[in-house]
Amino acid sequence: MTTTEQAISLEEQFGAHNYHPLPVVLSKGEGVHVWDPEGNRYYDFLSAYSAVNQGHCHPRIITTLKEQAEKLTLVSRAFYSDQLGAYEKYMHDLFGYDKLLPMNTGAEGVETAIKLCRKWAYEKKNLTPEKATIIVAKGNFHGRTTSIISFSNDPAARKNFGPYTPGFLSIPYDDPETLEMALQKEDVAGFLVEPIQGEAGVKVPSEGYLTEVSALCEKYDALFIADEIQTGIARTGEMLCVDHEGVRPDIVILGKALSGGAYPVSAVLADNEIMGCLRPGEHGSTYGGNPLACAVTMEALEVVRDEDLAGSATRLGKIFREEMEKLIDQTELVKLVRGKGLLNAIVINDSEESDTAWNICLKLKENGLLAKPTHGNIIRFAPPLVMTEKQLRDCIAIISRTIREYESVKV
Ligand SMILES: Cc1ncc(COP(=O)(O)O)c(C=O)c1O
Repeated sequence: MTTTEQAISLEEQFGAHNYHPLPVVLSKGEGVHVWDPEGNRYYDFLSAYSAVNQGHCHPRIITTLKEQAEKLTLVSRAFYSDQLGAYEKYMHDLFGYDKLLPMNTGAEGVETAIKLCRKWAYEKKNLTPEKATIIVAKGNFHGRTTSIISFSNDPAARKNFGPYTPGFLSIPYDDPETLEMALQKEDVAGFLVEPIQGEAGVKVPSEGYLTEVSALCEKYDALFIADEIQTGIARTGEMLCVDHEGVRPDIVILGKALSGGAYPVSAVLADNEIMGCLRPGEHGSTYGGNPLACAVTMEALEVVRDEDLAGSATRLGKIFREEMEKLIDQTELVKLVRGKGLLNAIVINDSEESDTAWNICLKLKENGLLAKPTHGNIIRFAPPLVMTEKQLRDCIAIISRTIREYESVKV
């Protein structure tokens, strides 16, 4: 057996240091729990950045994974498979878009949407060749590829990775007026936005923002592209976060929980008018749409529906925020809770440069709950949606106790 100490030292020695994990090693997961090699059990309050909404190793998803793995795992897209068409139809019936383009990771989904938007803009909107601009929001996180980091304003994501890809215009998030001004510029193709900015610290825009975005994009004939990679698949209490406002983006990007954490799967959804701009050879991926991914994804989405995970996210999220509000009344250490469904964050009353949030997460780990800061003083809380109310209340007790303990030591 590899011990915690050995596993960490192997990663330290042989792995690239492009992450800064908490010092905990996970070797088993089931539902809302994960275990380290020594057998200590933790609540997972991050859900692999919202990829395991269905809980770790959901038995139905794992059974489908095994069954399909024994039949056929990969065909090149030089041939058809018996799973891909069925999956595409399934997604059409569920989300109501004409077509799906399958990819593997979230960043690839975003890259696909960018290419699709540009292609549509040249071929349908007749923009000046090579001049298409996609508007994005400050504070965005859409992945780590060269084009995507080109429009990030996070110095860590950008520094020394230039030259950057041109063709993006960054405007403040949750600011329809500036969006309208930007949309009036020449050669605008679309607006790419997260319905809630997850990595930025669970920034929930004002009510009605997405409705305005949708109306403005329509008014100026620009594509509304929603990155639902983190907010989608029931995380915020609806299948898509845009459903809260009943709006329909022109392009939807999905990833993470599409496969319930069992396999890397992402997808781009759009209608024929847009998806029809892509012809053979213009885009693709060896693994995109492979039979294993298709089978696993259909089952993972059936689980979301059968177990009403959107309903659970709504109900439990409300309890969580109510209880955090009570905690805020009792402590100086937490100044804010925000979120929707089970995508929430608390803001620690300290500077962004402080290590208070990190230290609280270390204490949470000691007390049996795993969470991690996003951006300095913000801790994101996103447990699997299969959590029961009893388990949630247990977790709230751990968080409250940890915060109080931390505060009493500091005083
Ligand atoms: C909103 C959003 N878009 C894109 C991505 C990138 O996904 P991936 O890490 O699978 O490339 C993430 C990942 O956290 C995300 O939260």
